[in-house]
Amino acid sequence: MARIVGGIFTSHVPAIGGAIAKGAQDTPYWKPFFDGFPPVRQWLRDARPDVAVVFYNDHGLNFFLDKMPTFAIGAAPEYRNADEGWGIPQVPAFRGEEDLSWHLIESLVAEDFDIVTCQEMKVDHALTLPFSLLWPDERWPVTVVPVCINTVLFPLPSARRCLALGRAVGRAVENWAGDARVLVIGSGGLSHQLEGQRAGHINKAFDLAFMDSLAKDPAWATQYSINDLAKEAGTQGIELLNWLAARGALADVARELHRNYHIPISNTAAATMLFES
Ligand code: DHB
Ligand code: FE
Repeated sequence: MARIVGGIFTSHVPAIGGAIAKGAQDTPYWKPFFDGFPPVRQWLRDARPDVAVVFYNDHGLNFFLDKMPTFAIGAAPEYRNADEGWGIPQVPAFRGEEDLSWHLIESLVAEDFDIVTCQEMKVDHALTLPFSLLWPDERWPVTVVPVCINTVLFPLPSARRCLALGRAVGRAVENWAGDARVLVIGSGGLSHQLEGQRAGHINKAFDLAFMDSLAKDPAWATQYSINDLAKEAGTQGIELLNWLAARGALADVARELHRNYHIPISNTAAATMLFES
């Protein structure tokens, strides 16, 4: 049986890609963020995952406003990045883990989740930046299953539904034949709002409570409606749904090994967490 070895959660502000391209990781602006990663990379060297299941949201590269699935899973042999207009250099393609993709899709549909299956799929900065942060040499040692959650176009799935999706993914992974070591990644957040009168909104107290809840009480965020989550975390901070789903995929009891929280990167409260199942 496959085994989930742990989960890594990180913000994916596009400017991170620019900082990597410029080699600015050690400048005063960027160092507090990039300093969150060496302990995570050390853990990865010991954990040696074979596959990464990545919970993230697409920002208009693969899905646009005309067609926006609530939940979509990639089932492609390969995933490519493309120019999103941020000026981030493109990264090498990711090898898909097709057998796990189909296993997840079949398991989730059998559990009454209505999944969009993507046999072709581009992946944007929300998937590529976590990889560049975890494996700076950009030689990806894992294959990938992208799990895309709509956090960009209302109506959004509830926190309760995202947690349930993640838990169903976790059960399905553990039923996958073979002995692969599977890493779960949650990408996005934490509090930020990029548009409107509240642009620049950051809520440190809420972010810290959310991070604490992932260890102590993973269902904590499900007490909030989507509108209340957007009020607390910002209309883009709602990307915490990806973290919540990824947390759901880990065992109910998971150990927090490391965290980093820094304000601001761009207009975002940037956070990183590592959990071991
Ligand atoms: C920005 C974009 C994002 O997708 C995000 O999650 C955070 C910040 C930005 O444009 O600054
Ligand atoms: Fe984003």
